[in-house]
Amino acid sequence: MPNKTYSLAFLGFGNVGHHLARLLQSKTDELRDRYGIEWRLTGVATRRLGWLAAARGMDVSAVLGGRAESVARAEGAMGAWLSAARPDVVFEMTSLNPQTGQPAIDYIRAALQSGAHVVTANKGPVVHAYRELTDLAATLGKRFMFEATVMGGAPVFSLFRETLPASNLLGFRALLNSTSNLILTEMENGNSFEAAVKKAQDIGLAETDPSADVDGWDATVKVCALSTVLMGRPLKPDDVDRQGIRGLTGEAVRAARAGGHPFKLVCRVVREGGRVRATVQPEQLPIADPLANVRGASSIIHFDLDTLPAGLTLVSHDPGPDTTAYDMLADFINAVK
Ligand SMILES: NC(=O)c1ccc[n+]([C@@H]2O[C@H](COP(=O)([O-])OP(=O)(O)OC[C@H]3O[C@@H](n4cnc5c(N)ncnc54)[C@H](OP(=O)(O)O)[C@@H]3O)[C@@H](O)[C@H]2O)c1
Repeated sequence: MPNKTYSLAFLGFGNVGHHLARLLQSKTDELRDRYGIEWRLTGVATRRLGWLAAARGMDVSAVLGGRAESVARAEGAMGAWLSAARPDVVFEMTSLNPQTGQPAIDYIRAALQSGAHVVTANKGPVVHAYRELTDLAATLGKRFMFEATVMGGAPVFSLFRETLPASNLLGFRALLNSTSNLILTEMENGNSFEAAVKKAQDIGLAETDPSADVDGWDATVKVCALSTVLMGRPLKPDDVDRQGIRGLTGEAVRAARAGGHPFKLVCRVVREGGRVRATVQPEQLPIADPLANVRGASSIIHFDLDTLPAGLTLVSHDPGPDTTAYDMLADFINAVK
């Protein structure tokens, strides 16, 4: 099969976007030799940069070096940007809006309608518009892919899509928020809640305002994405019974570990008749439970399936923007191959 050159456009160019650009650069030869995929970057858009496009391709090193404006032309807005960049694939990596998923939903709709596949790292569009965007993509003969949205580095969605035919997901238990798990681990190691939050901020895991993580919102949005896609039960954040880890003291966390029942921020979803019940809350787990022994920034999910009586467990070890970028690269290859 002859090689094909794909025009790629980045919508959002923060942490994940920089890792993705570097990963694409480092995998250029392998993509060509193993998959016949060649690529050029024809669009980059952020609030600060505006809508930059160059249909013939940009110097990616210049873009990574902060000189995007020197290698691309500014377009007015999304529509003009898509017309100028003519992307085959749009990588959507803008910030999460947990309440509505906007403006990313509108961006993705427009990108699909322009004839591009869309690969996103953003949970908002999955929680608030999964069915609409998936159906729209199918109608247009394109793909809407979102492996990077939950458990970076563990292929949760493609696992079900590609390798578990005729299985039904009955429920799952999981630790889905890296920051909370790291904070609990640091508290077990002797830190106060405040010192543990500071440590998570210092290594770049927690944001300046850590409430999305420590109050359980990030885990809740991931629960909604998983229930919506894998169980066919759309959930919104307000449908989840949510409690974060803010109320736990260092003494309580250390006593729980010493007593053999450590605290974890546990996500649970179970089918109940035609509905699902979802909770995100601190729970004390027996030490023999695999979830109890996942420490630091790592995540874990245990699936209950009608086909595998003992279930199936996936662990993502120390996920970060690099593993998120890899999930997006994998989606790109799977979308076009
Ligand atoms: N970091 C991770 O490890 C990770 C893991 C899984 C999923 N994700 C998801 O991946 C996405 C990107 O994460 P990140 O860590 O790269 O975030 P980030 O470093 O904050 O970058 C976000 C980028 O999106 C741009 N942006 C935000 N709102 C925009 C808008 N309305 N229109 C155009 N551009 C907009 C920002 O541009 P300006 O700076 O100009 O505002 C910035 O370039 C988020 O949805 C996040 O939840 C991240």
